[in-house]
Amino acid sequence: MDFAAQNEFYRRQVDACLSESFPQTDASAGGLVVEAARYSLLAGGKRLRPILLLVTTAMLGGHPDDVLPFAAAIEMIHTYSLIHDDLPCMDNDNLRRGKPTNHIVYGEAIALLAGDALLNRAFELVHETGEHFGSAGWKAAQILSHASGSQGMIGGQTLDLLAEKQNIDAQGLTEIHQRKTGLLIQAPILMAAALMNATDDQVKLLTQYAEAIGLAFQIRDDILDVIADSTQLGKTPGKDIRDQKTTYVSFFGLAGAQNRLEVSIESARSAATELQATGSDCGYFIGLADYLIIRQS
Ligand code: IPE
Ligand code: IPE
Ligand code: MG
Ligand code: MG
Ligand code: MG
Repeated sequence: MDFAAQNEFYRRQVDACLSESFPQTDASAGGLVVEAARYSLLAGGKRLRPILLLVTTAMLGGHPDDVLPFAAAIEMIHTYSLIHDDLPCMDNDNLRRGKPTNHIVYGEAIALLAGDALLNRAFELVHETGEHFGSAGWKAAQILSHASGSQGMIGGQTLDLLAEKQNIDAQGLTEIHQRKTGLLIQAPILMAAALMNATDDQVKLLTQYAEAIGLAFQIRDDILDVIADSTQLGKTPGKDIRDQKTTYVSFFGLAGAQNRLEVSIESARSAATELQATGSDCGYFIGLADYLIIRQS
């Protein structure tokens, strides 16, 4: 299967698992907040993070079905981060995944609670499934908690907001990107490595690959905010300039940002090629690296 076919194959599994794992409940059991959570969770999205967990698991000799709940959990945390990121107190956006943002439809209070509900369901799933993996399950849970918390995504989001209208240096900018976005893209790869008991050499190369694509992903997101249109993007472009965010484009210019994206992707390719030489099938990893340079949404 080529990259696009593999992506589609795993995306369908993720979508089915997400709907099953967060079913609609009746009004007496918080029906409205569940409806709001499902509105954003099932609105589409590339499903990159959960697919990475399934692909890495398969690459390391495991069966993707066994880790599907972990994959769903990551996507729930990612979706909650988007619902909160769009709130008026954060980026104040009204379009996400091609639809009005959660708070536009359900109001701010329910949007906040829908995000909280997704976060809690995610860790419930991790605990339900993790016990089948023994200590590797705990390790995977710890990787996800760290990547989502104040040292990871939440910390990065905080730095991102504090950096608005401020002068920060290149190192500070890279740190924001690694934390707000990079760690939650690294997490599925490192969780799969933990669950499949990868060797130290494999973990080293997987970490190099994961760090590089995590940064590359957010650099391309910054570029798309400038070059894409809302139909392509499913969100409103131009908002980083509006909010005077410091991004790779505002800092290095469009060409400079694309250049740094390519440097990061080169590091990802080199890790994937080395992994491939150890006998792992890295076709998806290499296809993803190529796609991240040119992705349009
Ligand atoms: C958007 O993430 C937010 C960032 C971390 C840049 P994605 O681009 O993965 O959004 P979806 O999941 O496809 O909607
Ligand atoms: C958001 O970064 C990262 C997280 C949600 C953690 P952005 O604010 O750049 O994401 P978009 O552009 O709104 O998707
Ligand atoms: Mg933001
Ligand atoms: Mg945003
Ligand atoms: Mg953005």
